[in-house]
Amino acid sequence: MKDNQRTHIVLIGFMGTGKSTVSELLAERLSCEAVDIDAVIIEREGMPISDIFATKGEAAFRTAESEALSDVLQREHMGVIATGGGAVLASQNREMMLKFGFVVNLHASAELIIERVSQDTSRPLLQGDVSQRVHKLLEDRKHAYDFAHCTIDTESMTPAQVADAIVLEWR
Ligand code: S3P
Repeated sequence: MKDNQRTHIVLIGFMGTGKSTVSELLAERLSCEAVDIDAVIIEREGMPISDIFATKGEAAFRTAESEALSDVLQREHMGVIATGGGAVLASQNREMMLKFGFVVNLHASAELIIERVSQDTSRPLLQGDVSQRVHKLLEDRKHAYDFAHCTIDTESMTPAQVADAIVLEWR
């Protein structure tokens, strides 16, 4: 198989690291499509992520996530793909991302993540004490994002600067 099977740029990272915002900017810059896997799932399932978790459970969400990711990764035209923070947990997802994409991990501190995710209370995994949940999940997923081709520390960067940094790594 050709090396340029890596058609896409795939953004991974914990919730609140700016994957969706950066994917839009990056796609605009590269004149390609931005695809948000959460949005694909919402459209296919016909309900918000929180309702999928509540009515079908997390396992069903993860199955839908893997299917959506696999379908999008196998599209022929290039896309900048923003994945959900837990998409990296399944080994088959990680393998597919590495096969079909240049995988970029967006990193941010727990403090910045908490500040960002506190503005959106809809995330099913962050109900209750947000700070406690973020710290616990960050601990559980400590090395989950390490498989990326590169990591960008987004801490003191604007989304546009993050997009610039990705272009430099990708070229
Ligand atoms: C999740 C992250 C969310 C969404 C779902 C589960 C996770 O996406 O897929 O709530 O397990 O980290 P974002 O990372 O875009 O918030």
